[in-house]
Amino acid sequence: MLLSHLDLWRLYWECVSRPSTVFICSITAALYYLWGRQCQTPALVCSEAFSAFLHEHCPVVSERFSPTPWCWGGRFQTLVCSVLKSKPHVTYRNELIRTGDGGQISLDWVDNHASASYPESSTRPTILILPGLAGNSKQPYVLHTISQATRRGYRCVVFNNRGVAGEELLTPRTYCAANTSDLEHVVQHVKGLLPQAPVLGTGVSMGGMLLLNYLGRKRSESGLVAGFTVSVPWDAQKSSVSMEEPLNWLLFNKYLTSVLCGLITRHRKILEKVVDLDHVLKSQSIREFDERFTSLLFGYKSCEDYYVDASPDKKLHNTAVPILCLNAADDPFSPKSTFPLSIVQDLPNVALLLTAHGGHIAFLQGLFPRGENYMERLFSQFVHAAFEHPRDINKACCIK
Ligand SMILES: *[C@@H]1O[C@H](CO)[C@@H](O)[C@H](O)[C@H]1NC(C)=O
Repeated sequence: MLLSHLDLWRLYWECVSRPSTVFICSITAALYYLWGRQCQTPALVCSEAFSAFLHEHCPVVSERFSPTPWCWGGRFQTLVCSVLKSKPHVTYRNELIRTGDGGQISLDWVDNHASASYPESSTRPTILILPGLAGNSKQPYVLHTISQATRRGYRCVVFNNRGVAGEELLTPRTYCAANTSDLEHVVQHVKGLLPQAPVLGTGVSMGGMLLLNYLGRKRSESGLVAGFTVSVPWDAQKSSVSMEEPLNWLLFNKYLTSVLCGLITRHRKILEKVVDLDHVLKSQSIREFDERFTSLLFGYKSCEDYYVDASPDKKLHNTAVPILCLNAADDPFSPKSTFPLSIVQDLPNVALLLTAHGGHIAFLQGLFPRGENYMERLFSQFVHAAFEHPRDINKACCIK
């Protein structure tokens, strides 16, 4: 025995006779207790059949989500994630495709020719990735998604919105969350190249809005076998109100607006022809940017009109493929009051997985949350389930 009873007794006495030790122990115990209360099983909102499918093939849905113990709160998770998250190495093959209006779109492919499970390229399942507002294929969450997918043997292609991936803008047109024409063009292009490979769409934040709007518009003609979204803003108007709360504005909105302005400055020459660029560049919030730029460019009467058209919640009932959506209740970009619970309850093909914590595209777990986290594990299990059990998932979602 390492410690005799006498030693233990002495140790105990040492501790209780020192108020500072007692103090530290109580604080630790209290923090541990509080952390324990943060670790909850996420709520899964969907039909019974879809739920049974997910529990069988995506067991992570029934695990507790335990946020990184030193990183509480949605804002803190979001910030820490953007600083800490590692960037797995990914080599892309870039392809520029032309669009009907004379523009171009930059696609970044990871062909995964070394795939052990799908050595035959023509049938290798493909994941189409849609990054968030102002994001492109270099975002850490995109790189992690790719590393999960390629490990499973799948191929990936990142759809970079126009003008954000270093390519030139050939026409005065960028992108918005409601206009699905470019996505439609990209899906057609991918299906044209690989008619026998099933394609699954995954969208992050604004990329998720675009994906859901597309799936709602195309119904059973989407060309995709399933959809997965992370941290989607469900109601653009209410999201922008949340993002204009002073602390959220200071931490996120101001920075994102400056990134958006930086992106269009690069295309000044061509954009100047259609908008007052100096006025746009003075925007102090995403809403101002959308008022002065996005909604004008896409012909909306007002920014409110654009936000109504961009919100995916009311489009869900038109979708016709299995869809899994992950959101955190403390996401500063997507307030929990806007989660479409009652809409989804009546739909056989859509599941919402809601964690109490996790922030915006963060979901950090473990003491050193640099690598794979909750959202990557969920993504990996879901795409595997959808690609490997197509008949079961469609049956569970009442899709013929
Ligand atoms: C997207 O915007 C372009 C240019 O304004 C327009 O021609 C097209 O019809 C729009 N597509 C959709 C689906 O709204």
